[in-house]
Amino acid sequence: MAGKVISSGFHYTTLPESYVRPINDRPNLSQVSDFSHVPVIDIGAGDRRLVSKQIGDACRRYGFFQVVNHGVPEELVRKMEQVGREFFELPVEEKMKLYSEDPTKTMRLSTSFNVQKEQVHNWRDYLRLHCYPLDQYSPEWPSNPSCFRENVGNYCIAIRDLGMRILEFISESLGLEKERITAILGEQGQHMAINHYPVCPEPELTYGLPGHTDPNALTILLQCTLVSGLQVLKDGKWVSVKPHPNAFVVNIGDQLEAVSNGEYKSVWHRAVVNSDQPRMSIASFLCPCNDSVLSAPNELIKDGSTRVFKDFTYAEYYKKFWSRNLDQEHCLEFFKN
Ligand code: OGA
Ligand code: NI
Repeated sequence: MAGKVISSGFHYTTLPESYVRPINDRPNLSQVSDFSHVPVIDIGAGDRRLVSKQIGDACRRYGFFQVVNHGVPEELVRKMEQVGREFFELPVEEKMKLYSEDPTKTMRLSTSFNVQKEQVHNWRDYLRLHCYPLDQYSPEWPSNPSCFRENVGNYCIAIRDLGMRILEFISESLGLEKERITAILGEQGQHMAINHYPVCPEPELTYGLPGHTDPNALTILLQCTLVSGLQVLKDGKWVSVKPHPNAFVVNIGDQLEAVSNGEYKSVWHRAVVNSDQPRMSIASFLCPCNDSVLSAPNELIKDGSTRVFKDFTYAEYYKKFWSRNLDQEHCLEFFKN
């Protein structure tokens, strides 16, 4: 079992074979350029119409953007990063007590993506937590480091609030009432992945996470310690999203693509690794209520346009998502009309 995580303290000098991608499926890092005009949106600017217009433009063009002046205190972010780092520095025996490959578990340490389904592994370990309702889930979180639950809990509350504010802007940007989207999504769940990408001996041969879209509604990603690794697909090319100080990356997930009737695209993104420094990212996922029906509101089905997707519940979608491997046909395809 202990061989399963890669943050074991073992120093790899070559990439184990089970991580090596076939030659036609490698990151080609030297061909990736920086995304020079990543939309960085000041969401505390006060002018709601301007902010929702900027968000709408970014969602239509890219399916992702960054936010600053977001109201999440720097102190909370720092403490979150600190316990995340301390957790992955724990002795491997301590971490392995939490190891599981069962995606239905509400708290687990795991590795790669979906170990039981995939052919090639990814250079990532991750701690995955359910975070809402907090009182229900935080008692099962790690108690080591000692301030883990407190620091992560405070961060989750602030991120949830930020996510709800962004969803309101997104709703308005589609020409809908402010609360329309959150009403469709229902009482949303919240999950977190603390992603740890150890130093990789041969970063050209593998991924931290291969290209994918997120299966949930909205993802708020913190790229910690300013180590690059996130790339998004823009006009058919992978471009690198450099970490921006004090910003969060926000990306549209599959459920917002469905609810917007395909107007906003769930963005393809991936994480690459490097041979110099470990990287950590903290992804917070807002997920529709399990029995919410992800159906675009009638206001968005304009004259002559048709519904792109069938009606489905989030529970149905999520089950389908985890029954597959990340590099198979896109999950939303199964739900198209
Ligand atoms: C994810 C993800 C990207 C990153 O966790 O879904 O896309 O930069 N992470 O770690
Ligand atoms: Ni993702």
